[in-house]
Amino acid sequence: MGIPFPYKKFKLVDGHGREIHKLRISLLDACNMSCLYCMPENKDFLAKNNWASAEEIVEIAGNLVLYGIDQIRLTGGEPLLRPDLRTIIKKLDKLPLAKFGLTTNAIHLDRELSFLKNTNCQYLNISLDSLDRENFFKITQTDTFSKVFHSLIKAQEAGLKVKINTVLLKGLNDHEIDQFILFSKKTGIEVRFLELMKIGVANHYFTKHFISADEIIKKMELKWDFKQRPMPKDSTSFNFTFNNGAEIGFIASESKPFCGGCSRLRLGSDGAIRPCLFMDQGISLKGLKGDDLLEALQKTIRLKPTDRIPTIERPMHKIGG
Ligand code: 5AD
Ligand code: SF4
Repeated sequence: MGIPFPYKKFKLVDGHGREIHKLRISLLDACNMSCLYCMPENKDFLAKNNWASAEEIVEIAGNLVLYGIDQIRLTGGEPLLRPDLRTIIKKLDKLPLAKFGLTTNAIHLDRELSFLKNTNCQYLNISLDSLDRENFFKITQTDTFSKVFHSLIKAQEAGLKVKINTVLLKGLNDHEIDQFILFSKKTGIEVRFLELMKIGVANHYFTKHFISADEIIKKMELKWDFKQRPMPKDSTSFNFTFNNGAEIGFIASESKPFCGGCSRLRLGSDGAIRPCLFMDQGISLKGLKGDDLLEALQKTIRLKPTDRIPTIERPMHKIGG
């Protein structure tokens, strides 16, 4: 789509044959929810003047596209809190991407819907950890269930491609599995259950609240009829279609890690590129071009682990989902 090709098109393939073609961009680390398993009590957000600017983000993303990135997902913290969100999306929209999406808690989704509808940023992953207002409040520590629920239904009706992310929390929302299945049947929206990962504050909740995908699947089998769908090569989820039409997926990062097939890089809100959710080391890509950029990318993908790193203390809102 009209972008110049100053470099030879170089596919980022690492030493293990993984083709790196997906980019997560964390636009900022702040959030307007305080999910128990994510947000530490002492919030320490990056100062605004240290955020990579819209121009820097767009330049970095444009350069990475030249090296084979063809899917971009914007995350946070909460990406809709970024004041220049529309500027960023409008510019990224010009890149030749196979898939462009956004992960959001949907508090401010309503106000962005008509804007998003007219862009290629169509793939929305919306966090929804409970279908019950009080329980939602308990987990997210914000009384925003109605707002979030209303917005996600509106997004689906507007034709955006909506999926729900639900973090499985033993004793907190594992009694709502049937309701989520019925929600999916009724709305046609796919729900993906995420195993709680040992990241940041979740490390302290892990023993008490972790429940595996297998445990949930065993419970579902007692009550529901469903079949597994075929899984694309670098998919992070495994998915089931129910006889009643519900679509349920699992991202089992703890019990069945998928690092061996991971095809992602992560750009932090500070402009640093990281090879993995569980790695702190990052190289700033601000202002890098040509050979310097290539060297930074090669260094980064060489660090990409093939096995799951057990845990990281850095909070999830700083890494981006
Ligand atoms: N484990 C699993 N999922 C998490 N998320 C945030 N922290 C964790 C964690 N420790 C989820 C959010 C959001 C997605 C991007 O990641 O709820 O849906
Ligand atoms: Fe915010 Fe997402 Fe963290 Fe919840 S999980 S506090 S919505 S960044």
